[in-house]
Amino acid sequence: MIGTLTLYQTTIGKKVVMAVTGVILFGYVFVHMLGNLKIYQSADKINAYGVFLREVGAPLLYEQQLLWSARVILLAATVLHIWAAYQLTRRDLAARPVGYAVRKNIAQGYAARTMRWGGVLIALFIVYHVLHLTTGTVHPAFDKENIYGNLVGGFRVWPVSLFYIVAMIALGLHIYHGVWSMMQTLGAKNRSNDRFWRGFATVFALAITLGNISVPVSVLLGIVR
Ligand code: HEM
Repeated sequence: MIGTLTLYQTTIGKKVVMAVTGVILFGYVFVHMLGNLKIYQSADKINAYGVFLREVGAPLLYEQQLLWSARVILLAATVLHIWAAYQLTRRDLAARPVGYAVRKNIAQGYAARTMRWGGVLIALFIVYHVLHLTTGTVHPAFDKENIYGNLVGGFRVWPVSLFYIVAMIALGLHIYHGVWSMMQTLGAKNRSNDRFWRGFATVFALAITLGNISVPVSVLLGIVR
């Protein structure tokens, strides 16, 4: 335990926490995007998917037991990811309080430079999103049993769709650079497989971003109604 805590206090320890929680969050977001695509099958299919999430594991487990276990793991991963990012940022700023006179972003692309603010935007998005489509607190016509109706009614409001689209672009950039850093931290990346990981990061970031963005766009265009 003490060994683990000591490791956490090092920069590499915090980066390992970011990488491991990043894998969990990345996996969730990918599977969730596939679930969202059920909107193209039918209203019944995506609504049945919501019922499945609640009942999965029963009768062996209680109803919602697996759902709540997943929620706890997801929340813990999110909190640890943000906490480690916050501490690494503070450490970075403390190491260079004045900042560079000339900022050179030689090895850094746009995705790398937007990790922090992009991360803040994604965190705000998650809070809004849960209030919008899970609890319905900020959705005027929310119906717990009708995910399809919630999506169509929700995304017809264009500022809401625009916010989702902007957040999904930020998420795509975050995942692109995140996969990259994660492989570096976990020691999976080297000179010979560099191209593979870049390709992997590009394909997954694009799939998640475009798959998700297609949902509000299809509603706005009247393809899904
Ligand atoms: C356009 C993109 C997205 C759509 C259409 C969408 C759709 C939905 C819907 C319909 C629900 C409610 C499911 C239910 O009631 O059973 C939900 C829940 C949720 N979504 Fe999304 N989502 C999107 C993007 C995201 C992203 C990018 C994240 C994470 C970064 C995310 C995280 C969550 C979480 C944490 C929940 C709550 C799950 C639970 O505790 O039951 N979603 N989403």
